[in-house]
Amino acid sequence: MRSQLLLGVNIDHVATLRQARYRTMLGAHNVEPSILQAALEAEAAGAQSITIHLRADRRHIVDEDVYLLRKKIGTKMNLEMGNTPEILAIALEVKPDFVCMVPENREEVTTEGGLDVVGQKELLRASVSQLEANGTRVSMFIDPDLDQIRASAEIGASMVELHTGTFANEQGKKRTQEAARLKAAAELGHSLGLQINAGHGLTVANLPELFIVPHLAELNIGHSIVARSVFVGMRQAIAEFRAVMDTYTRP
Ligand code: PXP
Repeated sequence: MRSQLLLGVNIDHVATLRQARYRTMLGAHNVEPSILQAALEAEAAGAQSITIHLRADRRHIVDEDVYLLRKKIGTKMNLEMGNTPEILAIALEVKPDFVCMVPENREEVTTEGGLDVVGQKELLRASVSQLEANGTRVSMFIDPDLDQIRASAEIGASMVELHTGTFANEQGKKRTQEAARLKAAAELGHSLGLQINAGHGLTVANLPELFIVPHLAELNIGHSIVARSVFVGMRQAIAEFRAVMDTYTRP
């Protein structure tokens, strides 16, 4: 079956650029680049969702961005967040379409960098149930580890986002091995009823090797799109990703 692989464009690094110059004067008339313009460009280029990460230290996206984008974007909003009471309260107010739970502190991270769902099941379960009852579908950003997949299903998450950082950073045989781990994780997750997403470190060059992974519904891509946009603009950068993504066949 051929069904479109969805693209969530992470625009955090547009905010990173803005903060590098204007962090202390965000309301000023001359602040650039505009986060809203980045989101609208991404949508015009075919993104199905806009992904932003509101971090505890507000190092790129700030609260005003979240509220503004919620009002103005025409596609779905995917809010990445650490499971803290402060950010959870914002998410419950903003009601993003999706939340992706990510590690914020070192102790919430598994060896490879995903969220340790196994180690904090009850805390996560409570937040997942509040968010899902509030109309937000929740994803867990996890390593391709079978126990993390099972734990994500057990706590009532709708989706997992498989962490592709190791896959992206390795080459050759090690990358092939990591792709096999991602495949096994996707198969188990799918069999447990989870939607399978993936993200981190994905590029036009490495995507074809990822495509042995079945059941992929959505990819979240940020850094490479923003980096490429510096040279060719965001629409072209996204079109280049879209062209590769359209070669994916979902079983
Ligand atoms: N998915 C999640 C959960 C992330 O935290 C990030 C990085 O912000 C991404 C996807 C995007 O990764 P990259 O910027 O490397 O494409």
